[in-house]
Amino acid sequence: MNAHDSEKVVGTLVAEGYAQVETPEAAELVLYNTCSIRDKAEQKVFNRLQNFKREGGKGKTIGVLGCVAQQEGEKLFERAPWVSLVAGSASYANLGQMLVQLETGDRRVTGLSFDRAEAFDTPFTRRDNPHRAYLTIIEGCDKSCAYCVVPFTRGPERSRTAESVMAEARGLVEKGYTEVQLLGQNVNSYRDPSPAGWDFATVLARVAEIPGMRRVRYTTSHPRDFVRGIVDAMDANPAICDHIHLPVQSGSSRVLAAMDRLYTRDEYLRRIEWIKSARRRYSLTTDIIVGFPGETEADFEETLTLLDEVQYDSLFSFKYSERPNTAALAMGDRISEEEKQRRLVIVMEKQRAIQIRRNAEMIGTIQEVHVEGRHRALEQWIGRTSCNRTLNFSYPEADEKDMVGTYLPVRVTRAGPNSLVGERVFVV
Ligand code: 5AD
Ligand code: SF4
Repeated sequence: MNAHDSEKVVGTLVAEGYAQVETPEAAELVLYNTCSIRDKAEQKVFNRLQNFKREGGKGKTIGVLGCVAQQEGEKLFERAPWVSLVAGSASYANLGQMLVQLETGDRRVTGLSFDRAEAFDTPFTRRDNPHRAYLTIIEGCDKSCAYCVVPFTRGPERSRTAESVMAEARGLVEKGYTEVQLLGQNVNSYRDPSPAGWDFATVLARVAEIPGMRRVRYTTSHPRDFVRGIVDAMDANPAICDHIHLPVQSGSSRVLAAMDRLYTRDEYLRRIEWIKSARRRYSLTTDIIVGFPGETEADFEETLTLLDEVQYDSLFSFKYSERPNTAALAMGDRISEEEKQRRLVIVMEKQRAIQIRRNAEMIGTIQEVHVEGRHRALEQWIGRTSCNRTLNFSYPEADEKDMVGTYLPVRVTRAGPNSLVGERVFVV
C-alpha cells in the first residue's frame, strides 16, 4: 500500500510538470513516504531524515508523507526542523498546491485532514512495475484492533465507486497490464457508495472478468468481513489468483478478544474450512503478533497449535509493538522484549518446517508463472505462481529473448522454505 502511495505521489507531481530524478542527491525536492505500523518502521524514518540532512540534504526542500506524517503532524517540524512539508495520505491530491505555497514563501505547510474523499482518484498514477498494477478500492479502516495505529493514520473507511474502480481496471488492461492487485487496509469491507452498492465479492469478480485480465489479487482481508461469497467468486473466476491472505494475529480466543478482533479462534477456523473445502485449492497466508499484553504461555501455545492445524503456506510474524493512541497502551501485563523475541523465533521455526514440507509437495507439479524479472548471476528467470510463490527457472540454451511479463508453464524441480526452482515446460 505504501509502495502504491508513492506511485500516486509521483504520478500526481509528474502530471503537474515535476520530473523524477534518479537519486535523492540530484533532487531539489525530496519526499519521504513513511510507515508507522510498528515502532521500528517509525524509528527508521527519523534515522533516515537525520542521515540525509548530514549527507547533502542542505538546500533541498524536504517533505514527510504517509503515516508518520499523519501521526506526528506539526510535532515533526520540532523533531526535524529542516522538514518543510508534512502530509498524510488523504492529502496527496493537494500536493501540487502545497508545493506552490512553499515556493511562494510559506516556510511550512501541512496536509493532515481526512476530509477529502477523492484521495485515490489522483489524476494520474505512475506505476513502477510494468506488469503488476496496484489499484486502491478502499482507504482507511473502521475497525479498532487494540494494537493498531492504522485507523488513526489512515482515517475512516472510504470506498471508491465501483464505476471508478472498473474504469481504472479497464484502463490498466488497455495500458498492457495483465495482473492487478486490489488494495485496501480492509479490502473486503468494500462497499460501493453508488446506488449499485456492489460488495467486495462482486467488484472482485467484475474486475476479474475484464477481457485481457489474467490475474487478480487482493490485500488485506479482515476475517470478520471474509464472507463465503468471496470464496464462491474465487471458485468461479480462474483469473482470481489462488491465494488468500487472512491475518489471524493470534490462535487464542482470549487474546483475540483483548485485541478486539471481532472473531474467535473457532470462527476463524470456520472460514479456513470454507477455503479448504472450496472447489479450487488455495494457498493460505497470515499475520501473527506475538507478545500482545497479557499473552500467556498457554495463549501462545494456542497460536502454535493453530499453525499446525491450518498449515499456512507462508506467514508474517511480528513482535507486538506499542503504538500511539491505541487501546492496548493502557493494558497491563506487558511481555518483556526477550520473551517476545523467544516467541517470535519459535513461530518462525515452526513455520519454516511447515513451509519446507508444503513447498516440497509442489515438486513435480506444473505451475503457470508470471515472469517478473531475471536473475543474471544465477541465469534464472524470476517467476511468480498464482499461489504467490516465487518460482525461478532456467531457460535452456541461454535464450536472451525477454520473457518478462509473459506467462509460462514451469515444472517445479526443487523446493526450499521460501521459494521454488523449476524448468520450463514446452507444450508440443
Ligand atoms: N505491533 C505488532 N504488529 C502489528 N501489526 C499491526 N500493528 C502492530 C503492532 N502494533 C501487524 C499485524 C498486521 C500487520 C500488517 O502488521 O499483524 O496484520
Ligand atoms: Fe489495523 Fe487491520 Fe485492525 Fe484495521 S482491521 S485496525 S488496519 S489491524
